Amino acid sequence: MADTAQIEEIVKQVLASMSGSTAAAAPAASGSAAGGSIPKTAHVAMLTSLEHFDVKEFPMPEVGDDDILVKVEGCGVCGTDAHEFKRDPFGLIPVALGHEGTGEIVKMGKNVKKDSAGKELKLGDKVVTCMIFKDNPDITMYDLNKQNVGGADVYGLLPDDDIHLNGWFSDYILIRGGSTVFNVSDLDLYSRVLIEPCAVLVHAVERAKSTGILRFNSRVVVQGCGPIGLICIAILRTMGINNIVAVDGENKRLEFAKELGASDYVNFKDHKGIEALSAAVAEKFEGHLADFAFQCTGSPAGHSNIYKFIRNGGGLCELGFFINGGDATINPHFDICSKEITTVGSWVYTLRDYATTFDFLKSAKKIGLPIDKLITHTYPLEEINEALKTNLAMTGLKIAIINK
Ligand SMILES: NC(=O)c1ccc[n+]([C@@H]2O[C@H](COP(=O)([O-])OP(=O)(O)OC[C@H]3O[C@@H](n4cnc5c(N)ncnc54)[C@H](O)[C@@H]3O)[C@@H](O)[C@H]2O)c1
Ligand SMILES: [Zn+2]
Repeated sequence: MADTAQIEEIVKQVLASMSGSTAAAAPAASGSAAGGSIPKTAHVAMLTSLEHFDVKEFPMPEVGDDDILVKVEGCGVCGTDAHEFKRDPFGLIPVALGHEGTGEIVKMGKNVKKDSAGKELKLGDKVVTCMIFKDNPDITMYDLNKQNVGGADVYGLLPDDDIHLNGWFSDYILIRGGSTVFNVSDLDLYSRVLIEPCAVLVHAVERAKSTGILRFNSRVVVQGCGPIGLICIAILRTMGINNIVAVDGENKRLEFAKELGASDYVNFKDHKGIEALSAAVAEKFEGHLADFAFQCTGSPAGHSNIYKFIRNGGGLCELGFFINGGDATINPHFDICSKEITTVGSWVYTLRDYATTFDFLKSAKKIGLPIDKLITHTYPLEEINEALKTNLAMTGLKIAIINK
């Protein structure tokens, strides 16, 4: 332990000297520069081993002609961060995580004029990033025959390099030329932190609309009231759909589903067997089954159950399995074929969905949906290990790092 402390001390000294000389040697900013107060070093939460972040200090990098330096205000903790924290499935350690981040432009290169939607960018603007594929806003992750996540990078899931400021769990991040970046100055901090998970649901609803079954006056079931199902409800409500039944096993989450726009709910734990559960859902729609259902749990049993909530000729959007959660049993005759169910899968989002999401967040606030309450816990950067543990304990909904 003493050795580690000594090494850390030496590293600190080296860093301090490096940052001094880097700053002294750095040329005057080629483009705009923020008035004075950019420190010489930045702090980045690095996942250095399983279940352990170290907040590390690095010299502030030079900002190239196409780059943007952002002072980070906050970043949501995602299920993907939790997977990395626990198991490092992508083999990225050491890595600067955090992709649901937002902050303020403090310096930008002379070539930076507009964001990925064509909106002007200037010092002081609040921004978010999306996936780093440059030219085609319609690239999504679901069309594996076209281009998919394999062709895209995401800040917060990049391998470490000599710049180090690659994730949003930090106090500064360097957005490099060519990245997708959006000016979201007209959204408040919590809305900006919620953009990425909301984009998942904007995409799912777009996929659902492609069936032609989801309509203004549809009866809709949303199964699973974690952040994903809850945001789904808020989007449907914001679109004007007001006959939404939420299904979950936790009354606290179900009550919140009502605040976010569900007209009623069913706690699946109150009903024994799928027939009783299906009847309970139909009772909430005055004896009808749903026209459309969104499957927002990672539970195979949840997938098996959902068909029983949908009417003949109805539609289903399955979005609950971001990762492989195992096989589910269905009866092809009763569940799909004889009912003529139209099913779509939905995975992540496109750049266009991102832009739609900004409008959704504004509209949701306008009609009084308490979107901010999705963020149940906030932590400063130094307490990132606690933040990830709270995420894994599943005691809250959305956990966020909010910088001081
Ligand atoms: N499609 C995508 O791009 C995408 C993106 C992110 C997350 N996801 C997936 O969405 C799912 C939900 O994410 P989350 O963050 O809301 O998770 P979560 O674990 O917080 O929420 C899941 C909810 O489902 C409920 N549930 C479990 N089994 C159920 C059942 N049989 N019937 C009804 N309710 C049941 C739980 O009580 C819980 O409230 C995850 O499995 C994740 O993999 C998909
Ligand atoms: Zn995420």
